[in-house]
Amino acid sequence: MMVDADAGCAIRIAGVEKQFETPQGPIRALTRTNFPVRKGEFAVLLGPSGCGKTTMLRLMAGLERPTSGVVEVGGRPLWHDERRDDGAVANMGVVFQEANLFPWLTIEDNIALPLKLRGMTRKLRRERARELCRLVGIAGFEARWPRELSGGMRQRASIARALSYDPEILLMDEPFGALDAITRDAMNLELQRIWIATSKTIVLVTHSIPEAVFLADRVVLLSSRPGRIVEIIDVPFARPRETDVRGQPEFQEIADHLRHRLEH
Ligand SMILES: Nc1ncnc2c1ncn2[C@@H]1O[C@H](COP(=O)(O)OP(=O)(O)OP(=O)(O)O)[C@@H](O)[C@H]1O
Ligand SMILES: [Mg+2]
Repeated sequence: MMVDADAGCAIRIAGVEKQFETPQGPIRALTRTNFPVRKGEFAVLLGPSGCGKTTMLRLMAGLERPTSGVVEVGGRPLWHDERRDDGAVANMGVVFQEANLFPWLTIEDNIALPLKLRGMTRKLRRERARELCRLVGIAGFEARWPRELSGGMRQRASIARALSYDPEILLMDEPFGALDAITRDAMNLELQRIWIATSKTIVLVTHSIPEAVFLADRVVLLSSRPGRIVEIIDVPFARPRETDVRGQPEFQEIADHLRHRLEH
């Protein structure tokens, strides 16, 4: 048997290229991309608009197939030619920029929908949805409609939905991009708390430098199109981090470095 060199690896992106075919010709979105996501880490993808962050996340989620190269989840290749290994993606939850809740379902039923699809009984779904509402801080809103919640609360509900079936990996594409700065800071704290409480592997996309440095164990910096990883930066601050970590000189140094790299 081969020794598994990536035993500590939740997702492995190796030699990945992604090209989209369009009527106007091919668009190269990602090139020569290698990134092992470690089990249990909080990785943040940062880069300018259009550099391929969403594409990289969708490749990890199995929503796109690489043009060449390999994507592995838990040591299993996601694709066998054009066929996706659905068992490998079953272990991932995805949160998009918009909360994407079904308006005709209550918050509780939205959160429990993946459990219903997995055949869980109504009673157990209810219990799990309530527990998740507590975890993400919207207890008491289980019976409300999505339109009755604020943007931040809807985003909490969509995080709860992604956590409902207890996936080991959470992929998040600018989940707080539509929120005001104060709500966003609060959500960053909440997400850190949830991550510590659940010990998930998280990959989050953002183009906010302070958000990236606040949340990440590692910031993965992508260049403009075609996207390429230009640097991976370890963020050393102890957990849990408080909002005032942003005032520390070392935080500023890392943020300034990232800003400089993004501008040049
Ligand atoms: N389905 C698609 N068909 C054609 N081109 C695409 C498709 N998806 C993405 N692209 C192109 O690939 C490039 C990378 O797009 P992507 O959405 O990954 O960028 P991004 O880094 O997430 O940008 P943003 O920060 O604005 O969300 C862009 O040039 C985009 O136009
Ligand atoms: Mg995007």
